[in-house]
This record gives sequence, structure tokens and C-alpha cells, in this order.
Amino acid sequence: MAVATLGAAGQAAAQNNAPIKVGFMLPATGTFANLGAMIENGFKMHVDEQGGKLAGREVQYFKVDDESDPAKATDNVNKLIKRDQVDVLVGTVHSGVALAMAKVARETGTLLIVPNAGADVITGAMCAKNIFRTSFSNWQPAFAMGKVAAERGHKRAMTITWNYAAGNESVKGFTEGFEKGGGKVSDNLTLPFPNVEYQALLTQIASQKPDAVYAFFAGGGAVKFVKDYVAAGLNKTIPLYGPGFLTDGTLEAQGEAAQGMLTTLHYADNLNTPRDNAFRLAFAKAFKTNADVYAVQGYDAAQLLATGLKAVNGDISKRDQLQEAMRKAKIDSPRGTFSLSAAQNPVQDIYLRQVNGKNNEVKGVAIKSLADPARGCKM
Ligand code: BEZ
Repeated sequence: MAVATLGAAGQAAAQNNAPIKVGFMLPATGTFANLGAMIENGFKMHVDEQGGKLAGREVQYFKVDDESDPAKATDNVNKLIKRDQVDVLVGTVHSGVALAMAKVARETGTLLIVPNAGADVITGAMCAKNIFRTSFSNWQPAFAMGKVAAERGHKRAMTITWNYAAGNESVKGFTEGFEKGGGKVSDNLTLPFPNVEYQALLTQIASQKPDAVYAFFAGGGAVKFVKDYVAAGLNKTIPLYGPGFLTDGTLEAQGEAAQGMLTTLHYADNLNTPRDNAFRLAFAKAFKTNADVYAVQGYDAAQLLATGLKAVNGDISKRDQLQEAMRKAKIDSPRGTFSLSAAQNPVQDIYLRQVNGKNNEVKGVAIKSLADPARGCKM
């Protein structure tokens, strides 16, 4: 047999020529479906820019629709690891699903790059050398928004979100920043993910009359929330704030309702740097839609993997070297260059943005080079 005559070195070389297997575990259905598509498109765009190869190796894609359903997450991730035998997992959007992925990645040692889900613990107590994130921790944009809201003179805020890891951590981060600045959060309202029946909670806000409201919603749920808030007339007297997910990738559908809203995020639509302009032009050309934060995070996941693969000449079996190179990477991101913390989460500027037409326009930097506290991370 051919393989028998190759010897160990020959087999390694043959292995090196095999495609790198990338397993996308992303939502293709439900409220986060569009976010998943943007991440996948961003990732593939970087690979295509490299001629379809990373460090000389073809890239082969495998996909699972995770449905943003934590109950199916372990089975889904095992399909990619055991059935498809992927080299690297890329996923996901929903924090609850990502927590299950991180658990399996820790148990199996599979390389995992998280291109969105902000669950703090992934680069906190669950941190591991094989787990990387190219997006944010839920704490990062939320803490920055709390600081901004306090600086704007608000004293009493209410929060509203889906009752799951991302929503609860986002509210916690906002509260930390807001109360540090002298504000007080008087009440936290929640509804189950991915419900969008907001009316009863909006009535509570109207009767409690806080100075400001902080909301975490994303995707389809964010579109409806912002519209419902305005339809209830609340925006006339109670300003609505949030992390940028509330208005990113959603402005086309939110239209008038979102105009003027202030949010905080690690990306904005008009950074107007040569790097971002080139990225946005290429993305719009390839996918006939404007890039958003999710596209950037997917693109940067591919950039991070490419950096690691380059350091080992495409030999992904050299895992220690690959991971070391990834941890030390400086990613030339459309958002601005970022590096990773010791917990392998981006250290990045958090922008203050304001909605104008179909853009989240940058107003300034809310907090420069913000690192997640990475509570409980020991590596
Ligand atoms: C999350 O579940 O972590 C998440 C989902 C959508 C946008 C941002 C965060």
C-alpha cells in the first residue's frame, strides 16, 4: 500500500497537504440566523483573500446549525468533532451554546475560536490554551456603556434583557460601570430567550419612570425591541442605551425608530481607516450587503487561525507552537489592531456610536484598550 511505503516523514507530509478542516457551529435559523451568516461570510472572505488557502493548505468547511439552542449544543459540537473530525471549531453566537462548546473543547483539547458569544466565563474561569475569542466578553461593551450613561448625568436606570448568560452578564457589566460612576440600577427586567413579547415589561418601565434604560437584545429580537420602545412612546422621555448589538446589522429593519440612539461596541460603521474602508468595500462587493460587527469578528477569527498556521508552516499538529503564536498575535482588524489578553480575549477600544441613517457612526472612544477582568482565569 502506498502509505506503508511512505514512512513517518512521508505520512506527515501527506497529512500536511490534507485540507484544514474548519467546523462552523453557528445559527442558521432563529433570531440570530443573520448573525451566523455574517460570521461565516467574514471568515470565508479572509480565506478567499489568501487564495483559498491558509499557510499553503486548502480549507474544507463543515457546518452545523446550532439553532441557538443550548439543549442541542453538546450533540451538535460532537457531530463536528467525532463525525467530521474537524481540526478547529469556529462558533458560536449564543453564549449558552458557546458555554457547552467550551466545555467540550476543554475536555477534548479541540482548538476553539469563538467569533461572537460573549459569555464572560469562556475567557474567565473556563479559560484554556486551546480556547480563543475574536469578539468581546459580555462585560466589555456593557461596562463602557455604564460609564457613558453615568457621565451623561443619569442617576437611576432600569435594565431589560433576555434571561440567559449574555443578557445577565451584560446587565451586570452595565451596572458595574454605571454604579462606579455614581448611578443606581433600580430594577432588572427579563423575559425568556428568544421571546419578543415586550409589552408588559415596557408598561413597567413607563410606570417606574427611570432616567434611562439599558437593554441587551440582538438580531431579530433587537429589531422588535427598539421599534416597540418607540411605539410605546418611551423614547420621548427615557433614553434607551445598549451595547452595540441593539443596533448592529439591524438598522435597515429598525428604520426611524433607532435614529439618534447611543450604543457602545468594538466596531462602528464609519471608522474611515484605510483598513476598514478596504474591508467594507470588499465585503459589500462579495456579499451585496454592508459589513457589520459580526462579519468583522468572523473575518478576524480566520486571521487569527491564519497567524497560528503560518507559525507552524501549516502543520496544525504542532499545537503548542500554533496556540502560542495565536496568543501573541496582533490582529490587523477592520475595527483597529488588537492583541489578546493572557485569557485569550481581545484587548480593544470600545467606541461610543450614534445611529445616523443606516450607520452606527463613531462619536469617540468610550474606553481605550479595554481588557476583560478575566475573573477566575488560571492557565
Ligand atoms: C451572546 O449570546 O453572547 C450574544 C448574542 C448576540 C449578540 C451578542 C452576544
